[in-house]
Amino acid sequence: MTKYILSASILSADFSDLGNAISQCESAGTDWVHVDVMDGHFVPNISMGPFVVETCRRITKLPIDVHLMIENSERYVESFIKAGASNVTIHIENNTNIMRTLQQIRVLGAHPGVAINPGTSAALLESVIPFVDMVLVMTVNPGFSGQIFMPKMLSKITSVNNLAKSLNNSIRIEVDGGMTAETIKQCAAAGADTFVAATYIFKNSKGIQAGVNELRSALK
Ligand code: DX5
Ligand code: ZN
Repeated sequence: MTKYILSASILSADFSDLGNAISQCESAGTDWVHVDVMDGHFVPNISMGPFVVETCRRITKLPIDVHLMIENSERYVESFIKAGASNVTIHIENNTNIMRTLQQIRVLGAHPGVAINPGTSAALLESVIPFVDMVLVMTVNPGFSGQIFMPKMLSKITSVNNLAKSLNNSIRIEVDGGMTAETIKQCAAAGADTFVAATYIFKNSKGIQAGVNELRSALK
């Protein structure tokens, strides 16, 4: 398993030139492209759908890491996977039949992941971890890029890591929200191995390459 994965969230990319933005982060050395899907119900923002995943699939060979922040995920996972999603992560808070949807994701050929909001206890993950390849710990409240990292989430990252170890499950632990060269280091020390960044990569005043380089060097 690759030690550290950097997943570039296109939520902050320049959509007038998305192809160029993605190619730049690919050549800068990001590992995955993160697509944030929001429906205006589960979170107070509306973003992108399967069509954007399909567009990304044509632009890059990198795995596409889809983060669903929507109601009724079970109705949409198939279209995201058909569009080219490699990972599909759904939230624990609003998926009543979460096991069924996670199994559906796997059967359809993608890696299932479960995401957990800052206000939700890590203990709820115990029965879900055996069914996923990744847990995504939100380090901001979901809905927008450009928010400030919540340091209180560091102990949750460690709890998830300990929980996965106690269950003998080898999963990735992804963190999402407020990643900078400083916070990424803290998250890695707490046990995360997969890092989502939007603002720090796509809105970096020194450019995409510099943003990726800074995040990578912080992980050395
Ligand atoms: C927030 C999204 C994040 C967001 C991260 O709901 O899940 O992926 O794009 O943005 P930054 O890196 O700017 O905090
Ligand atoms: Zn996300």
